[in-house]
Amino acid sequence: MTTSTAQTTTGYEGGIAALYDLIHQGKGKDYAEEAAQLAALVTARNPGARTLLDVACGTGVHLSHLARHFSGVEGVELSEDMLAIARRRNPGTAIHHADMRDFALDGRFDAVICMFSSIGHMAGQTELDAAISRFAAHLNPGGVVVVEPWWFPRTFTPGYVGAAVVEAEGRTISRVSHSRLEGDATRIDVHYLVAQPGRGIEHLTESHLITLFTQEAYEEAFRRAGLDVTFTPGGPSGRGLFTGTAPR
Ligand SMILES: C[S@@+](CC[C@H](N)C(=O)[O-])C[C@H]1O[C@@H](n2cnc3c(N)ncnc32)[C@H](O)[C@@H]1O
Repeated sequence: MTTSTAQTTTGYEGGIAALYDLIHQGKGKDYAEEAAQLAALVTARNPGARTLLDVACGTGVHLSHLARHFSGVEGVELSEDMLAIARRRNPGTAIHHADMRDFALDGRFDAVICMFSSIGHMAGQTELDAAISRFAAHLNPGGVVVVEPWWFPRTFTPGYVGAAVVEAEGRTISRVSHSRLEGDATRIDVHYLVAQPGRGIEHLTESHLITLFTQEAYEEAFRRAGLDVTFTPGGPSGRGLFTGTAPR
């Protein structure tokens, strides 16, 4: 297996990684249901699929549920802090510290997934092509790639503000986000106030540049990687899902 050392931070480190699960599950993200739907999608395209790789698996919540649907699951994640949480959550599951742009594992899988718009961290078409071609290179014949994209330029709402208050594990966390156009990408700034009785209030921020690839740009990347591709609107976050299938 090769791993990349070119970029070892992803913006999902330290306190941000520690808050990730509290915020997203506190906001109602249903990883168990998403895993069940992913398993149904994969087996509809590739009946008998038994193994799955989750790329940019984050804190490994999808993996923990997908392990009930597949006999073998593995993960790839670049942020060491997200990876550490994923490994703690999934003891015995191989979760590789690697970059989706250039990873090369020994194993091949019946499905490779990349969820919650992690693919938007690719900085342009060359990186998008590289990632999708790495996903395809890790497939068994007839295997399936599922990618949840970021918004397309035509579906993104510049100036969008998100807000949530979550109470979990003795903490009250308020999260506000603001998204704007920056070149061909979304600049999303997120601020967190985390209040804990007797310990005061902590202020954390994160900022990500997430590329607004067109639907056609994703589809071209799939085709260049030798995959048949379809786009289904909706999906877990309203941003749709791309499904690619390798030849048998
Ligand atoms: C929005 S989170 C999604 C995590 C997880 N898939 C989920 O559904 O909760 C994006 C993840 O992509 C990871 N990431 C960003 N760039 C990456 C890269 N080049 N290779 C691998 N992982 C990357 C981040 O560290 C982060 O964990």
